[in-house]
Amino acid sequence: MIIQPRVRGFICLTSHPEGTAQHVKEQIDYVKSKGEIKDGPKKVLVIGASTGFGLASRITAAFGSQAATVGVFFEKPAAPGKPGTAGWYNSAAFEKEAHAAGLYAKSINGDAFSDEIKKQTIDLIKSDLGQVDLVVYSLASPRRTHPKTGVAHASVLKPISQPFTDKTVDFHTGVVSDITIQPVENPEDIENTVAVMGGEDWKFWIEELKAAGVLAEGVKTVAYSYIGPELTYPIYRNGTIGRAKDDLEGTVPVLNALLSDLGGVSYVSVNKALVTQSSSAIPVVPLYISLLYKVMKEKGIHEGTIEQMQRLFAERLYANADLQLDDKGRIRVDDLEMREDVQAEVAALWEKITTENLEEISDIEGYRNDFFHLFGFNFDTVNYEADSNELVDIPSIN
Ligand code: NAD
Ligand code: NA
Repeated sequence: MIIQPRVRGFICLTSHPEGTAQHVKEQIDYVKSKGEIKDGPKKVLVIGASTGFGLASRITAAFGSQAATVGVFFEKPAAPGKPGTAGWYNSAAFEKEAHAAGLYAKSINGDAFSDEIKKQTIDLIKSDLGQVDLVVYSLASPRRTHPKTGVAHASVLKPISQPFTDKTVDFHTGVVSDITIQPVENPEDIENTVAVMGGEDWKFWIEELKAAGVLAEGVKTVAYSYIGPELTYPIYRNGTIGRAKDDLEGTVPVLNALLSDLGGVSYVSVNKALVTQSSSAIPVVPLYISLLYKVMKEKGIHEGTIEQMQRLFAERLYANADLQLDDKGRIRVDDLEMREDVQAEVAALWEKITTENLEEISDIEGYRNDFFHLFGFNFDTVNYEADSNELVDIPSIN
């Protein structure tokens, strides 16, 4: 079929198989161009491996240190008249490239919050790899069915005590307007968001992997968090999602205790704000990102997800050097985003930004381009008028 973008709000309903494959290939080429990550991971489980930071982590482990990877994700293959999801095509492309390079790569498609998928993953590790030495936890989801209680939790993106009004952009039309987001109405909204995006499921994974004996001596595990500038605090760090991130970060000491007899360690890495399927759903944030991109590109310090993850692995997790954790024990690869000069310039632009000057003083074009790239669109090397084969298989999927 001929596949064109079909956008509804902040999601794109279609994905392009050849375009997503190009996107994956560019990420692989970047990691290869940076050379081998010495003493990097060898057997890696990535939970949330099909898009965003999780996919970039998988690519970095595989092509930066020749790691065998098991990827877990929740994606859809093509159905009649409907292409598969971007994460499906990304994973197919990743596996093909990994296999061609002689690397072990298998994938599991299903609900990572469930006991069944954890068990399937453990069985696969046991039979194929024995143990893993790195577990990356990179899920982003709007809902979670709790495996013990059966309760279906839905997360919300809201401020906690007061309404929040600030600028936001519709990045398709380029209209900048004020948005007011009402605060949570009851504490359950906070609890539900923590249940979905907090640390409990990460803990369940590590507990079950450990009990099954599939974690290697000296195992590392890492999950991803975000802080960002004060201007987004009401909707992000001080909002419902921020409570979930507090909970995720608070899980680190619990996991460290659990892993101590294996000489294992857990980390949260605070990453830069980037265009992913998850972040485009948050109000205010896309406008901030488009100004951030402008400032960071001008200073020559812009990074995408793959640059962030390559740096996390090469210069933090496997650098055999001082990790330079912050006062809360977190790894900070948002260091360049949070630099004082960067934030001061973004804040000054924030005061000025309007619909009229959006194209000129922000990098909204870069934002849009990244957004379309997520779904395999806007690549010069791909002919979008041509028929493409949407029925792509992931070679080693459970
Ligand atoms: P993403 O939407 O690109 O990736 C989410 C992944 O989770 C996908 O692989 C998806 O298939 C998988 N997933 C979702 N629900 C699942 C389920 N029930 N079972 C199995 N897999 C499931 O998101 P992302 O932006 O890469 O986010 C990953 C992490 O990084 C999150 O913790 C996020 O908060 C954090 N982070 C994001 C940013 C940002 O700007 N995007 C910045 C810092 C930190
Ligand atoms: Na991810």
